[in-house]
Amino acid sequence: MSDSIHDIAIESLMKEERIFDPPEEFRKRANINSPDIYKKAEENFEAFWDELAKSELHWFEPYQKVLDWNPPYARWFDGGKINVSYNCLDRHVLSGGGDKIAYYWEGEPGDTREVTYADLLRDVKKCANALKQLGVQKGDRVAIYMPMVPELPVAMLACARIGAPHTVVFGGFSADALAGRINDSQAKVLITADGGYRKGNIVPLKKNADEALKNTSSVEKVIVLKRTGHDVDMTPGRDIWWHDIVPNQSEDCPAEPLDSEHMLYLLYTSGTTAKPKGIVHTSAGYLLGVSLTHKWIFDIKPEDVYWCAADIGWVTGHSYIVYGPLANHTTSVIYEGAPDYPGPDRWWSIIEKYKVTILYTAPTAIRAHMKWGPQHAQAHDLSSLRLLGSVGEPINPEAWLWYYKYIGGERCPVVDTWWQTETGMIMISPLPGITRLKPGSATFPFPGVQADVVDEQGNSVPPGVGGYLVLKRPWPAMLRGIYGDPDRYVQTYWSRFPDVYFSGDGAKRDEEGYFWLLGRVDDVMNVSGHRISTIEVESALVDDPRVAEAAVIGQHDEVTGEAIFAFVILKSDVEPTPELGEELRQHVARKIGPIARPKRIMFTPDLPKTRSGKIMRRLLRDIANDRQLGDTTTLADASVVELIQSATKANV
Ligand code: WTA
Repeated sequence: MSDSIHDIAIESLMKEERIFDPPEEFRKRANINSPDIYKKAEENFEAFWDELAKSELHWFEPYQKVLDWNPPYARWFDGGKINVSYNCLDRHVLSGGGDKIAYYWEGEPGDTREVTYADLLRDVKKCANALKQLGVQKGDRVAIYMPMVPELPVAMLACARIGAPHTVVFGGFSADALAGRINDSQAKVLITADGGYRKGNIVPLKKNADEALKNTSSVEKVIVLKRTGHDVDMTPGRDIWWHDIVPNQSEDCPAEPLDSEHMLYLLYTSGTTAKPKGIVHTSAGYLLGVSLTHKWIFDIKPEDVYWCAADIGWVTGHSYIVYGPLANHTTSVIYEGAPDYPGPDRWWSIIEKYKVTILYTAPTAIRAHMKWGPQHAQAHDLSSLRLLGSVGEPINPEAWLWYYKYIGGERCPVVDTWWQTETGMIMISPLPGITRLKPGSATFPFPGVQADVVDEQGNSVPPGVGGYLVLKRPWPAMLRGIYGDPDRYVQTYWSRFPDVYFSGDGAKRDEEGYFWLLGRVDDVMNVSGHRISTIEVESALVDDPRVAEAAVIGQHDEVTGEAIFAFVILKSDVEPTPELGEELRQHVARKIGPIARPKRIMFTPDLPKTRSGKIMRRLLRDIANDRQLGDTTTLADASVVELIQSATKANV
């Protein structure tokens, strides 16, 4: 941990003082409209989850125990047998809901598809049979590297159906990143596509996959979906077209009854080292957590058209495009491409076309739309909307109010939802029929969740004082570990404070107990709502033979929240030139993915270090953000700071 909580810029977040009550009509009709639910959950949180697990989920065999908590290891609903794909599909189709649309899908070029629950179930069964034909068995890992097409949820649910944990790799990640994840998970099969569309271009997924597979040995077979139709290499004996193996399978594929704690998926996320962590999620508790939060926080009704505009490659997509909405028999929208393609009103035309009632997106997207101007939204009829959501980073009150006014027409509550890949489900959020909203605050922990803000010693801090956000009680969708690295699980999340989950975020509560999130307190940056580790980017930079050393920090950015700023020391015989800067930026994009490309690179002769040789990122952050410098007493050579400071000023 290189930072203390006092470094966090909090002032800007706390200025907005207006309060927004739930509109009366909304409150009356809301799924949850009595605050008693919090009391009930607090009285006995295990009984609370127990009752819901029974009422919300289908079980092949009942569980014997609600919670087995042996810190930091939790087992939920032990002894039960369940299948996530059965809960998302079969039970709806069997009770007559097969004709309901599961997904309105829209490709970036404008092609569309409507997928019903019956369609999805049929395709999932066929895909599951195809996986079985390729030798995939219960417990085998399957890597998925696909664009945002309906076959992506099909592939995930097919894995869930046979008990093969999937690991979805975001389509914007590089070949190297894909290889790393395949190697760590030892995936046996890879499901990919020839490509996907983004901003009018083709993302060469198959080409990246081919490159990745040169550096992996576990993958035996590759299923390739034809999406773009451009030429790709197919390796005989290894690669099979989706259309040659999936459609001709039998439609008979019963869902496998699996233990509650059977691994549903692995999802890699950036931590404070160069190696991403494979976060393990299991079946029953995860499904309960995501379906219940989805139903209550988004106030899901049978007639809603819900759109979570995230990518399925991130946890938001796993929980709130695939598993939560399908478990709730919801109609969702999936859109493949960029928000401003072909024009900045693409999203608003989608909302108008499908009469979307609930929109869930990230502050960075809202700020981009703010920049493009409200006229694009105003040109469309957005009156179908009744609720808005935000996730991924703290939402500044200005963006909150813009979203509320221009998108929600001042009639839609905004739910700001705080959670993480690790938490699996939303943990802090308003309940829109109850909670009085304060723009910029994620408000209160979900019923049954116990969050606190503590100081270095683990003691709760008084209102108004910043501290570390912790979770003091297990919750059903919590991560069960880091794949292949049990020590890191304990070390990262459970060692700072005994038996308490350390989130890595700073927070503060106000006099009324509202939670205000203040950003990460570790070496993780948040760029457009995506987690990127400073050390990952540094490793990619020093991977270039001309770079001697690099230090990376997040610099405040109007649109993306943080932008990546890299300080680079070159080897002594290398000339710093703008071209080299550009080459290094591209190098990082190639190594990790375009989202990790530094916005700025600054060549510097030296870096501020402690006497023990640790780079003081905090100081660099202060310099880059033009803040008053924090404590410099541990600095080995104070003149370095002045040198960099004057260079930064000259450069701005
Ligand atoms: C940040 C995304 C403030 C936070 C679901 C967290 C937020 C990290 C919010 C997790 C929010 C997410 N307000 N900060 N509403 N939601 N964050 O794993 O720093 O991609 O630790 O999960 O995003 O990012 P992840």
